[in-house]
Amino acid sequence: MAHPQRAGSAASLRAMERILAARGLPVVPEDITDDPSDTNPGDRQWHIRARADYALSRWSAATPPRYRDAEATLPEVMAWADRALADNAAAGALLLTGQTGTGKTHEAYGALRKVAAGGPDRFEVITVNSADMYGRLRPSQIMGAAERELRRLSEVQYLLLDDLGTAKTSEWTEEVTYRLVNARYNRCLPTIITSNLPARDEHGPDLSDFVGARVASRLAEMVTSLVPMIGADRRRGGRAA
Ligand SMILES: Nc1ncnc2c1ncn2[C@@H]1O[C@H](COP(=O)(O)OP(=O)(O)O)[C@@H](O)[C@H]1O
Ligand SMILES: [Mg+2]
Repeated sequence: MAHPQRAGSAASLRAMERILAARGLPVVPEDITDDPSDTNPGDRQWHIRARADYALSRWSAATPPRYRDAEATLPEVMAWADRALADNAAAGALLLTGQTGTGKTHEAYGALRKVAAGGPDRFEVITVNSADMYGRLRPSQIMGAAERELRRLSEVQYLLLDDLGTAKTSEWTEEVTYRLVNARYNRCLPTIITSNLPARDEHGPDLSDFVGARVASRLAEMVTSLVPMIGADRRRGGRAA
């Protein structure tokens, strides 16, 4: 026996058709297909592709020409991107360390590209070199401009902070870094950091020395993937090991 409610709605649908037909308004059944092709807007794959196209255009806008072809190559980096795609709040930070020319920035842009290509629900990204960031955050003539910039960096969904640790450290850089990292830590926002400094080095300068103890302790908790990159300087024609 048919479900009474269903039977009822089918009957009222037929009644509606009769009324519309009487008024000269024929009911044209919509052309609904179950065609699983990704050219069909009703298909799940179509939606993922549409979101990926949109996210990739945002990625391109945030990516300088040198890194337009960047693809993540390291399994840890690709795994981080997959985690970010699956659950934004659980991705935490990806920290890429290593000497200059080892491909940190390339992997970082590649990771963001992989997230975008996966067709995320939303995709907002800011990429900034840390020296430029400190430059932008210096108290300016324009009232509140630096505060607004800090808020933008603190709240954006994805942030790539490139080359942390190369600027000259001061109480001020420490304070700015603290406010930024603390804000992103509290909001559980995915963050990619690259640095020429090792995460820890008992015998020499490391990232903890640069950022200070408060930031180091938050970073230690945020970082879900620490990738020390080795190899020769690619800019001098060397090959990564
Ligand atoms: N996996 C890669 N494939 C091709 N080119 C790469 C790769 N990694 C880095 N490069 C290139 O090598 C150069 C140095 O890489 P980069 O990411 O800027 O190094 P780092 O940020 O560690 O100083 C850049 O020109 C970059 O485009
Ligand atoms: Mg770099």
